[in-house]
Amino acid sequence: MKIFAFISILLLPVITQAEMPITRGSMLALSCTGCHGTNGKSPGAIPTIAGKSAGYLITIMKDFRDNRIFSTVMGRQAKGYTDEEITLIAEYLTTYK
Ligand code: HEC
Repeated sequence: MKIFAFISILLLPVITQAEMPITRGSMLALSCTGCHGTNGKSPGAIPTIAGKSAGYLITIMKDFRDNRIFSTVMGRQAKGYTDEEITLIAEYLTTYK
């Protein structure tokens, strides 16, 4: 029995990770956390992106990308993404509370 207890302790991190599936949205959103902070909570001057609605994020990302609003950085960041990718990123970011 002891050996089973030992094996389940070894497997615990694997099981915990499996509960958080790696999706396309989560992969794409990784690039945002470098500036916007871990889990979208910025420690500095860059705005926090956690706690915003998907609709807000989709609209503002397209506005940045298509130069409808002024930005210093985000216009260039957003240029790389299709509408579909922006939707995936926005939906994933709503899991950041
Ligand atoms: C190189 C740093 C950097 C990266 C990477 C970055 N951002 Fe930004 N972001 C900024 C800055 C700086 C601003 C302020 C607007 C500006 O001047 O560009 C901003 C503003 C925003 C805003 C507006 C927030 C608000 O409510 O006013 C959103 C939304 C946003 N970023 C989303 C994202 C997403 C989604 C990604 C990943 C795809 C991302 N950002 C990647 C630097 C970055």
